[in-house]
Amino acid sequence: MEQQLSQIKQDAIAAIKAATSLSELSEQRVKYLGKKGSLTAILRGMGKLAPEDRPRVGQLVNDVRKELETSLDDKQAALKANELANRLSTEKIDVTLPGRHHEIGHLHPLTLTLNKIKGIFKSMGYSIAEGPQIETDYFNFEALNLPKDHPARDMQDSFYITEDILMRTQTSPVQARTMQAHDPNSPIRIIAPGRVFRRDDYDATHSPMFTQVEGLCIDKDISFSDLKGTLTSAMRQLFSDDLELRFRPSFFPFTEPSAEVDITCVMCHGKGCRVCKGTGWLEILGSGMVHPHVLEMSGYDPKKVSGFAFGLGVERIAMLSYGIEDLRLFFDNDIRFLKQF
Ligand code: PHE
Repeated sequence: MEQQLSQIKQDAIAAIKAATSLSELSEQRVKYLGKKGSLTAILRGMGKLAPEDRPRVGQLVNDVRKELETSLDDKQAALKANELANRLSTEKIDVTLPGRHHEIGHLHPLTLTLNKIKGIFKSMGYSIAEGPQIETDYFNFEALNLPKDHPARDMQDSFYITEDILMRTQTSPVQARTMQAHDPNSPIRIIAPGRVFRRDDYDATHSPMFTQVEGLCIDKDISFSDLKGTLTSAMRQLFSDDLELRFRPSFFPFTEPSAEVDITCVMCHGKGCRVCKGTGWLEILGSGMVHPHVLEMSGYDPKKVSGFAFGLGVERIAMLSYGIEDLRLFFDNDIRFLKQF
């Protein structure tokens, strides 16, 4: 048995020495020291020895095991060092290459425009309100003085989900929602930005989904001149100090009187061009004094308070601010377009 041991040791040491790779070395480790390895087999066979021989042989096996372990570990370290040295000499790193940049993103032109609009109205004491994009017929139409079968509903060809639920066609439902959530004795100054949906074609100036900003101001003694002053100031901050506004009588079921607001064409400054179709004016928003019936339906007393409301299209304002001619560019997600802002 002792002879067998010394043979195993000799073979193992030679094999370890000869190993040229880490995988080869680990094969040797298994071959000698593994569960089914030759050294282990000797340990198992100790039962056949005379009892007085067992401690000595056991000690011997352990010594051999330790010796083999040390030499395996040494060889492993040597092979690893070798491998690293090899990699260092063959792999070349060009330290003069430029680094990899993390691209810094930026805001979408519609977000930039919306942020500007929000900033202007916040500075005038307005806060931001929001409403759901999936709206009830009641808030989208009924509470805004558009009962079922009212012909003005046709102006906003709509996406219905059920008879009574639709994609909101305007941000005006936030008017009624805000009033109903509010104490009718305290004033309201809100703007409500958000997406609206209409069964429109998708062409250079229309999209079935677009962004509006609703405005609502309710207080004692609010008059049409407050509406004019507020919108004039806001539009001048948005475009330019010398901008002129034109209020054209119009109709919305929820405002009375109602006005369509035009601004001097920002492209030709009123001279007349392709964008303003030669008129020198651009239609930019709808507005009016909140209809007494709308106030009443949401719990306000039209004898005590009055208010104005307006609704503007964010895509249109962004197109005019940046000189963009096709609204679809906002939604195409073409990075070459988006990078320009
Ligand atoms: N909601 C109207 C529209 O989408 C715009 C508007 C809002 C008009 C508020 C008057 C007052 O056409």
